[in-house]
Amino acid sequence: MTTTTAVTVDFDLEEARRAYTPKAELPEVESNFEYDRDRFLRHSSTRDINPDPVALASFLTSAYHSLEKGLAMEVPRAGFGVRKIPSILAAVRELEATGNASVATRGARGSVRSYVRFHDERGLAMPAHLEEELRAFAAESGDEPLPGGAVTLTREKIKEATDFDYDRFIKTRYSVRHFTGEGVTPSDVRTVVGQALKSPRVCNRESRRVYAAYEPELRNNLLSYHHGNSGFGHRLGAVLVIAVDIREFDMIGERNQPWIDGGLFAMSLVYGFHAAGLGTCVLNWSEDREHDQVLRNAFHIPDNEVVITLIGVGHLPEQFDVAASPAPAIDDVLSVISPR
Ligand SMILES: Cc1cc2nc3c(=O)[nH]c(=O)nc-3n(C[C@H](O)[C@H](O)[C@H](O)COP(=O)(O)O)c2cc1C
Repeated sequence: MTTTTAVTVDFDLEEARRAYTPKAELPEVESNFEYDRDRFLRHSSTRDINPDPVALASFLTSAYHSLEKGLAMEVPRAGFGVRKIPSILAAVRELEATGNASVATRGARGSVRSYVRFHDERGLAMPAHLEEELRAFAAESGDEPLPGGAVTLTREKIKEATDFDYDRFIKTRYSVRHFTGEGVTPSDVRTVVGQALKSPRVCNRESRRVYAAYEPELRNNLLSYHHGNSGFGHRLGAVLVIAVDIREFDMIGERNQPWIDGGLFAMSLVYGFHAAGLGTCVLNWSEDREHDQVLRNAFHIPDNEVVITLIGVGHLPEQFDVAASPAPAIDDVLSVISPR
């Protein structure tokens, strides 16, 4: 005889779900969206052009990156990037003249020089009305080593560099909630941040920021603003706040871009620490406007940045348990897109 198990009497599952996480009525939902929207409008160049040099450097990076992409095309076109070149030259000049030279100006100079060489080496004509200015601009850098342009890779080089057990690498990465309590050094963090900067980012613009807390008192102070680290937070070796600078964005279509670039960056940090033999736990910043503001009031996080997430990093004990966190079946996630 088969029996069926009765659902627990008098248990209101929907009510339990309501109580599980904070619920919000429409006005509160709207005010939280407004909080994000207003910050985006205050600092991005979506509506008004932000005169800040960081915003200009971001515009420059996006523009010169078009040249880099053209240089790396399978079938390059003579004179590509013609619409972007005047902006690139003007932005470099303005940033340099105002003492704001950076990787953006150097990358732009390197790319313009590669652009001129690219045309010369192939006997291709540059846009006639810009040629003189382009040549003069490129000549200013001489043979100074500069970033930017195109890089040649080979299949062999990639094969050699990826000759390790990636499957094992990713399958041994778990969110860790046991740590020795030993401090993680600034130099450990610097190395991994440097590696994670290699993550993809929109138009190569540099929006990612990391705030690190190493000292136990500071770490614990920071963690006291976070919900979700109890039982293990005090044993971490460093806590990172991952933020994204919205001065880097300039159109409404980028309204969610901070969380994309910041999320990709966070993932690279997590893998970087895993490669370094350190454990991590991503610590959510799923907070409403009031609590987000509380963190901003307690620490120096500029108004032009959004907090994406926190990451706890620590040293691993000899042996420890992790939550299995089963992943779904591939077919639950992967399908062929179908046209309507
Ligand atoms: C954005 C984000 C926020 C998270 N926040 C927390 C958190 O606050 N506390 C925690 O213990 N785990 C947190 N996690 C870890 C997840 O629970 C974990 O990544 C998930 O269960 C998958 O398990 P795995 O990381 O071990 O593969 C977070 C993960 C992400 C990506």
